[in-house]
Amino acid sequence: MGYNLYMRPGAGKFIVFEGIDGSGKTTISKLFFKYLKNKNINTSWFREPSDSKWGKKIRELADEMDSIPIDEEFKYFLKDRKWDVENNLRPSLKNGDIVILDRYYFSSACYQGARGMDVEMIISENRKFSPEPDLLFLIDVDIPTAMNRIRNSRDVEAKLFEKESFLLKVRKNYLDLKYDFIKVIDGKESIDNVLGSVIEEFEQFFLP
Ligand code: ADP
Ligand code: TYD
Repeated sequence: MGYNLYMRPGAGKFIVFEGIDGSGKTTISKLFFKYLKNKNINTSWFREPSDSKWGKKIRELADEMDSIPIDEEFKYFLKDRKWDVENNLRPSLKNGDIVILDRYYFSSACYQGARGMDVEMIISENRKFSPEPDLLFLIDVDIPTAMNRIRNSRDVEAKLFEKESFLLKVRKNYLDLKYDFIKVIDGKESIDNVLGSVIEEFEQFFLP
């Protein structure tokens, strides 16, 4: 099986999923994780904000993020990410896993960027300690699609109007990112089709 080529110890691969809220990245990244597991491939799935004390604090503060200064918010995400890199990502990559991560520093770039911070500065601060992905799937959807999915799946009627204009900026920031490892996937398709596109890109990238 071709995959074994990539399972050498120390030869882990790092695959990141990004996109606006409601794009489907959690659904798709988990299905992709199951797909690899079913092939007996060593795989780990993590998410950011992580389970560190910083990640927990971020989740507690989720609805009040607007009330804390942007540089403080940025620092919480940075500290959480440092913890995640040291405790989850580097050890799993060293173990030879295919590491799947739901959100990474590109979320900081695009979300804190949409709150007015400099995108390039955010990226360079993060790159000081964060390994670069081998592949990044940007699950892209238009704002009405994302808003419908958020409305249907979460108890968040409040502030949806503000969220809409904010996500418009975030989506633009994502689409403006220019890195060779980014694959933009049309997230408006059915879950099966989105997963199919991810698997196709993955196999093209990693299989000889
Ligand atoms: P995200 O992690 O990007 O915020 P989720 O994976 O939590 O998004 O998905 C949000 C909602 O949209 C969930 O109810 C999920 O079942 C649904 N969903 C995800 N992908 C699709 C899709 N391709 N088509 C239709 N519904 C989807
Ligand atoms: P998450 O729970 O993944 O939200 P969702 O499943 O709705 O996409 O992420 C929580 C929020 O944190 C999300 O709105 C994006 C934001 N975020 C940042 O602003 N900066 C970051 O660096 C990260 C990792 C997330």
